[in-house]
Amino acid sequence: MKVLVIGNGAREHALTWKISQSPRVDKLYVAPGNAGTAGIAQNLNIAASDLVAIVKKAKELRADLVVVGPEAPLAAGIVDQLQQAGIPVFGPSLAAARLESSKAFSRELMQKYGIPCADGKTFTDYREARSYLEKQPVPVVVKADGLAAGKGVTVASTREEALGALQSIMETKIFGKAGDTAIIEECLFGKEVSLLAFTDGKTVVPMVPACDYKRVYDNDRGPNTGGMGSYSPPGFFDYDMILKVTEAIIKPTIYAMDKEGSPYKGVLYTGLIMTDAGPKVLEFNARFGDPETQVILPRLKTDLVDIIMSVVDEKLDSLNIKWMNDACVGVVLASGGYPGDYIIGSPVEVSTKLDKDINIFYAGAKKRDGGQIVTDGGRVLTITATGKTMKEARDKVYRNIQHIRFDGSHYRKDIAAREVT
Ligand code: AMP
Ligand code: GLY
Repeated sequence: MKVLVIGNGAREHALTWKISQSPRVDKLYVAPGNAGTAGIAQNLNIAASDLVAIVKKAKELRADLVVVGPEAPLAAGIVDQLQQAGIPVFGPSLAAARLESSKAFSRELMQKYGIPCADGKTFTDYREARSYLEKQPVPVVVKADGLAAGKGVTVASTREEALGALQSIMETKIFGKAGDTAIIEECLFGKEVSLLAFTDGKTVVPMVPACDYKRVYDNDRGPNTGGMGSYSPPGFFDYDMILKVTEAIIKPTIYAMDKEGSPYKGVLYTGLIMTDAGPKVLEFNARFGDPETQVILPRLKTDLVDIIMSVVDEKLDSLNIKWMNDACVGVVLASGGYPGDYIIGSPVEVSTKLDKDINIFYAGAKKRDGGQIVTDGGRVLTITATGKTMKEARDKVYRNIQHIRFDGSHYRKDIAAREVT
């Protein structure tokens, strides 16, 4: 098979790594890829946002499968376009991807089908939103409806902060059209967990759960980032809870999408919060999570291409997906200054002392002519390790991170700490 992966993050490096292990794959391409994918696949100089060029290239290559990593091309309809061109593709259609690309859409769907989520209201008129918000208790949550690269949500502890966020979204339009509609929600409290599931539109198979860390500094301080680390499995989310959430949340959502005429195929990412009243949905994503994927895929025993093809062919019910019991911890190594301004172009040095069974999944990193890897973004790489216990995996990842260096690098020291103390 010829497989083309779309994206350039550590998530896509992890996907490419797993796909490359399949005996079914003869040729593997990534558009645009990064320093990590360059070692296991052929990078193509095409941006993930350039849908016309991707479809053209996929046809030219006679790709047997396209796997889409990031949300933006999904929301722009890459799946529909590839399907029209007769190319098998893994991911939801534009209409189905609205579960992520419109928080107003997903809220309406959840309310209609009784799927547990925060109480709240959707607004298209700034004045109306403002007067509603003025009457809400704090803390309160203000969200832009559309895609905002993970920055569209403000959990405001004062009304002033909430009103400021609403104004930035709906009046100043800091997220552009993503802020034409805003959502005001009650603030929920509890531990957060990500449960991703494969689905072919009918059958739903949950993956192992994972937790991510969004804030830049230890103990969840500092601004939000694209994710500073993750681990799997969380001790507070056992097998019974996976089944419960699958039955009460994920299956009803997939059923609802089918009923509404937008059948959902691919990966559905459910961001959950474990409240006193049970698990509730914080968000849906229409794709694999980053950095969750970097700790989920090392635990997957089944051939990922077999799973993906059974989703594409709508035969997921015929597959038995197996996972390792091992724990996995992933820590992101970021450029100095990230998530603010940072410099790029620093050489990344990886010592030969690195354990052999460690994974380095590159993100903002590129290979110079001659092979030297240099930093090329804010989050440079995710290092992951597995172990029989969470402690073993965690000790291993932090021991090995010392062997990867570049100027100004920083990382969180507390990933998975709450699981081992
Ligand atoms: P979202 O993109 O909707 O998942 O929001 C990003 C983050 O904001 C979540 O991971 C939560 O930490 C937080 N968040 C979102 N909605 C709520 C809510 N209703 N109550 C408390 N925290 C929330
Ligand atoms: N880890 C959050 C996300 O992938 O959106």
